[in-house]
Amino acid sequence: MKDIREIGEPVFSSGLENIYFSETKLCYIDGENGRLYYLGIPIEELADNSTFEESSYLLLYQKLPNKEELENFDRKLRENREISEILLKEEELIPKNAHPMDVIRTIVSFNGMLDEKATSRNEEELLEKANKLIAMLPTIVAYFHRIRNNLNTVKPDRELNHAGNFLYMLRGEKPSDIEIEIFDKTLILYLEHGMNASTFSAIVTASTQSDIYSSITSAIGTLKGPLHGGANEEAMKMLFEIDEKYNGDVEKYLKEKLARKERIMGFGHRVYKAYDPRARILKNLALKLADYTNNRKWIDMQIQLEEKAGPILGEKQIYPNVDYYAASIYYMLKIPFDLYTPIFAIARIVGWISHILEYWKSSGRLIRPREKYIGELNKPYIKINERR
Ligand code: SDX
Repeated sequence: MKDIREIGEPVFSSGLENIYFSETKLCYIDGENGRLYYLGIPIEELADNSTFEESSYLLLYQKLPNKEELENFDRKLRENREISEILLKEEELIPKNAHPMDVIRTIVSFNGMLDEKATSRNEEELLEKANKLIAMLPTIVAYFHRIRNNLNTVKPDRELNHAGNFLYMLRGEKPSDIEIEIFDKTLILYLEHGMNASTFSAIVTASTQSDIYSSITSAIGTLKGPLHGGANEEAMKMLFEIDEKYNGDVEKYLKEKLARKERIMGFGHRVYKAYDPRARILKNLALKLADYTNNRKWIDMQIQLEEKAGPILGEKQIYPNVDYYAASIYYMLKIPFDLYTPIFAIARIVGWISHILEYWKSSGRLIRPREKYIGELNKPYIKINERR
């Protein structure tokens, strides 16, 4: 791979496509062959054998934890779940119709103001902050959902793991083991994905030597967009539109959508030019959950849409991505649509922080790309009374 200084002239790439600017050991995406690795471990191995807690440790510390390390990390997460009275009061002031992504962006940012050492770049202190942020994000989401529905907030339950506790705090009832297992695997699959737009936002902010809360706030705002993290919410809305406006006729929907040159939510990827390996795993999890909940409606519609889209979008190397089948899983878990992207954030905060830690330890160089100027030059300044 040539450094631009060797090339000796500027490189232009719309959307920074295929531009490399730093080195990492956290994640490798083989876009041509549809393969994904966290610290060199295939995502399929982690989805089959790991947990949110263990894979989070793997990314933050760049190694699999031994038994004691995992127990300590997990214990701290369970201890750190509760949010302060002042944060809860802040959540209660937020308009009930606010989008939950705006809520977590606001509360994470507000929380930074409560940390006297917010600007610390000491690795140990940063890992403590990481544990607290990872632990409290599900609480922030679940509390807001209960508050906006005038329901009592449900206190965290230390007996439940990260995945189970979120479902419990959200729904107010203990989830089944299979629901916990499937939800936990979706969190592993959402945990990390290299230099995606929201991680890039976090790193751009971190590269100015701003603080970790500002970096995470930048990332949350970026993840919200429907071309990125917002796609899982849009994908479920798409299925409802097909059901309600097209009476389930996926072929008609697809034809009309593509004729209008609009995007099918949950399909396509900037890096994968093969099937997203996460989508393959999520499809099987969705089928398992559909059988458990005895509700195949949505997964059957998704499979039909994928089959109909295949010949058309496949030609452009466009396949289902991580958000497509995650949507029907979250629906079958009785999670409201507008919480799907916050769940993406609940997982991806681990990837964001892992990259911030790695970038600060590596070059940490200020990120400052260029724009190709296409305007005029040396134009005269015309005084206001001489302008038309
Ligand atoms: C995530 O980067 C990451 O790793 C992200 C992520 C992660 O884990 O962090 O994987 C998570 O964000 C997954 C992507 C979720 N977004 C969506 O599902 C929204 C729908 N997808 C598209 O908007 C699109 O596929 C993008 C934004 C994801 C990628 O788009 P690119 O690389 O910018 O491609 P493009 O917009 O230049 O499109 C190239 C062609 C165009 O057709 P032409 O103009 O050449 O004829 O492909 C078409 C596009 O119209 N196209 C689609 C399409 N995606 C691209 N056509 C229909 N449906 C789609 N979904």
